[in-house]
Amino acid sequence: MSRGQTTAVPQREQWTGQFGFIISAIGSAVGLGNIWRFPGVAYESGGGAFLIPYLVALLTAGIPILFLDYAIGHRGRGSAPLALRRIAGRLGESVGWFQVAIAALISIYYAGVLAWAGSYFVFSFGEAWGDDPTAFFTGEYLHASAEPATLEFVPGVLIPLVLMWVVVIGILAAGVVKGVQWANTIFIPLLVVGFLALTIRALFLPGAIDGLNEFFTPDFAALADPNVWIAAYSQIFFSLSVAFGIMITYASYRRRRSNMTGAGLVVAFANSSFEIIAGIAVFSTLGFFAFQQGVAISDLDGLTGVGLAFMTFPAIVSEMPGGGWSGALFFGALVLAGLTSLISILEVVIAAIRDKFALSRGQAVGIISVFAVISILLIGTTSGLTALDTIDQWTNNVGIVASAIAMTVIVIWVKRRGGELARHLSAVSTFRVGPIWVFFTGLLAPAVLVWMLVAKVIDLVANGYGGYDGWYLAVAGWGSVVVAIVAAVAFPLVRWRHDPEQFEPWPAAAQLQTKGARR
Ligand code: ALA
Repeated sequence: MSRGQTTAVPQREQWTGQFGFIISAIGSAVGLGNIWRFPGVAYESGGGAFLIPYLVALLTAGIPILFLDYAIGHRGRGSAPLALRRIAGRLGESVGWFQVAIAALISIYYAGVLAWAGSYFVFSFGEAWGDDPTAFFTGEYLHASAEPATLEFVPGVLIPLVLMWVVVIGILAAGVVKGVQWANTIFIPLLVVGFLALTIRALFLPGAIDGLNEFFTPDFAALADPNVWIAAYSQIFFSLSVAFGIMITYASYRRRRSNMTGAGLVVAFANSSFEIIAGIAVFSTLGFFAFQQGVAISDLDGLTGVGLAFMTFPAIVSEMPGGGWSGALFFGALVLAGLTSLISILEVVIAAIRDKFALSRGQAVGIISVFAVISILLIGTTSGLTALDTIDQWTNNVGIVASAIAMTVIVIWVKRRGGELARHLSAVSTFRVGPIWVFFTGLLAPAVLVWMLVAKVIDLVANGYGGYDGWYLAVAGWGSVVVAIVAAVAFPLVRWRHDPEQFEPWPAAAQLQTKGARR
């Protein structure tokens, strides 16, 4: 090919069928967000009453935007920048690169949590954390420094982190079917069996019922707090893996005649079920711990995120008869759930650079090793915890939300492709969508998201985050958003090595039959 010429984008890799897609999409959705984030967020946001905003967010934004991702990926038949370019032109491509950047940033810290969980899986057998799991985690394990940015490596974190990256890169190098689908087909059933065993064990612990009462007893007053609604929408977005390119990419690997919405409902239901089961497992266990200590659950610290997984849970394991096994099941589940999500996060980047620069999978996988190096530099040091916490806060609460707003507004309002995408989904799927879906996706969801984003940005500007230095938040927090914006502006200026417009087109919207194929 001479300089300046482009060729048609080659045939895409494909899942072997509906099962391969669904298991991989569930693998992506069920991740750290389900196990370590949901139980604590739900507890802090009204307990049982949180299920109301959670369900509202799922039905009005989670599932509608999941369907939007599917429609864009399937009709546009490409990675996020390519599919969005085909559906919504250059502006769409910008949103696609913004999503790719967010996914890349998330991968950097997500791998870190996996590395910690991997270490703790091993530690569980000998309860290596001793009598004071909190001091062990921040001291002996992380060597956490008060300095927010150091280059002092911690071998105990570095080794599992490198290992996680090697495993993930190996799976991704093997391709969509032999790598991604294969890994999900093995890891997801293992995860379900292991986590159910952990849950059943937890339910039989003394005090478990008190834990469940604490988790499910509704505090309806919490529903008047806007932050509770914001928490519900953020949780759904991260947890369903929507609006950061994953579901666009995965949908682009489906055959032309594929039941998209039917599969989407299965994925959403499976994800939320896993989330509720995680809540039951975690709170039964916390009920046991509170019972042992003779205190109320509300008096316990560290009920969410890092604190829950790496400080509170190890302390509980030490109190349990045969606790080592429960610890191994919990941390093993975190590794499996996180690994299958990290694969999907990185596939967003791989697919995008392959489409744009006409790279082989091997070349693209080689390039994403750069993120492994950044991840090791940021997370494998004594300041890893601070970097992880900060990037997580900004990418989730600012990045993903902004990306969802930009995508819905540009696709539905600016380019007016909502009706066509609805017809597309209905033509290929068993569950049809129409004006109600367009209303949720184009109006209600972006309206709520804009409100959330404004509230969050005001809060972050006014109050900072986590007590960290202002300069550090400017670099690691706001800097992450700036990186994504630069990607959104710069990549569309670079020439496509394949002609993005050359692909086997779909029938025009008006010709789409709404009684379509099932598979
Ligand atoms: N959906 C993934 C999670 O919940 C990213 O962790």
